[in-house]
Amino acid sequence: MSNAEDQDSTRRDFIHYAAAGAGVVTVGAAVWPLVNQMNPSADVQALSSIFVDVGGLEPGGQITVNFLGKPVFIRRRTPEDIEAGRAVDLSDLSIDRESRNPNRPGTDALDANRTMDDEGEWLVMTGVCTHLGCVPLNNAGDFGGWFCPCHGSHYDTAGRIRRGPAPENMHIPLAQFVDETTIQLG
Ligand code: FES
Repeated sequence: MSNAEDQDSTRRDFIHYAAAGAGVVTVGAAVWPLVNQMNPSADVQALSSIFVDVGGLEPGGQITVNFLGKPVFIRRRTPEDIEAGRAVDLSDLSIDRESRNPNRPGTDALDANRTMDDEGEWLVMTGVCTHLGCVPLNNAGDFGGWFCPCHGSHYDTAGRIRRGPAPENMHIPLAQFVDETTIQLG
């Protein structure tokens, strides 16, 4: 196959992924390629932050906001979600044991290192599958969290990869509560 054909085939694959995810996404485009040429430069990113009112979100609810060109899932977990997440040992995490959480840098992927609050009710993460960038479905998959239909990656209630080709837990953006009902991203 020539180089040009190779590229064509890659492009077709990409379009296929986009189509596969198109029906399930609530905000923005279906696929967020890991090739980041459309992202703002680092100095622009450093200046960027948004505030999200989460006052209306009930336990079990999730909203998706667009932040720096990517979907960010803000999930208010149920007691069952929290219990399931906290019951997982590091040894159960055979694919990725890092928290991927810049708010707690260098920590392991225990549930408490993934959530925003000590009680574990709030989980904020970039809603991009770490395999090839599709947007995973909420409340789906074998671990009660998210499922990426593109190639079958299962994430648990803390957004940790548990089965499938994705190599890393879903990433967490810089985030903090600035008051009881407002989350600052960035
Ligand atoms: S993009 Fe391949 S499993 Fe998600």
